[in-house]
Amino acid sequence: MPGFGTGPLVFAHRGSSAALPEHTLAAYVRALAEGADGLECDVRLSRDGHLVCVHDRRLERTSNGRGPVGAYTLAELERLDYGSWHDRTAPDGGLPADPERTRLLTLDALLRAVRAADREVELLIETKHPARYGSGVERRLVAMLRRHGLADPRPDDPVRATVMSFSPLAVRQIRRLAPRLSTVLLLEVAPPGLRRGRLPFGARIAGPSLKLLRTRPQLVPALHRAGNRVYVWTVNDAPELDLALACGVDGIITDRPAMVLDRLGR
Ligand code: G3P
Ligand code: CA
Repeated sequence: MPGFGTGPLVFAHRGSSAALPEHTLAAYVRALAEGADGLECDVRLSRDGHLVCVHDRRLERTSNGRGPVGAYTLAELERLDYGSWHDRTAPDGGLPADPERTRLLTLDALLRAVRAADREVELLIETKHPARYGSGVERRLVAMLRRHGLADPRPDDPVRATVMSFSPLAVRQIRRLAPRLSTVLLLEVAPPGLRRGRLPFGARIAGPSLKLLRTRPQLVPALHRAGNRVYVWTVNDAPELDLALACGVDGIITDRPAMVLDRLGR
């Protein structure tokens, strides 16, 4: 993969989401054009069981819809505008509506876009609230990754999918459904045993918040000694980047991939 051995990988959090509306195709296309090594996205289920790229449980913040994402069918969600809220607040606000920056993005469409980029990309896919959805999200996610040839990774495939969750149970479920799929356990606090670098349920990558690393920087060498990698979120300015680099992380998840790549001299 790009970046290994030459500094941390740079992942665009929800796409290039400081510049363009999060989770839109335009934000992801821009991140790839800026040179990000990978992309991060959150997935939820529509009422009729489609995986859609939306962060919040409810629609209000990032669209002109109202209510929980899961209360609507895909066709209903596709009628909403997911870009105008951002364009009104962005420094370059008032740009004409472009379907790529206003339309709902499905995971299927994002995977097709990543394949079409025809270069090395690691896609980090976060499942939200797995306890609430039972195992539905994980089962559908693995089925989708299988359809795209990503559930059983091949060493020569330039695209790699990695599933992330704050829930150890979701990580365990993914490992059961697709044992070779790479997984990240996201962390806001350090669980018992982490002092010795051990991650539960077979996750081989830890995803601590920057806030956690600020207070516990020694977690990174402990995780490395136990054979794990560390992807930190969310790193959005120069002091935050300096802290992440001083900790020796392997991946940086950022809303501003161009800024991070520039400061890394790439
Ligand atoms: O990459 C992990 C990070 O995305 C977790 O927090 O709320 O942005 O999904 P959140
Ligand atoms: Ca996320």
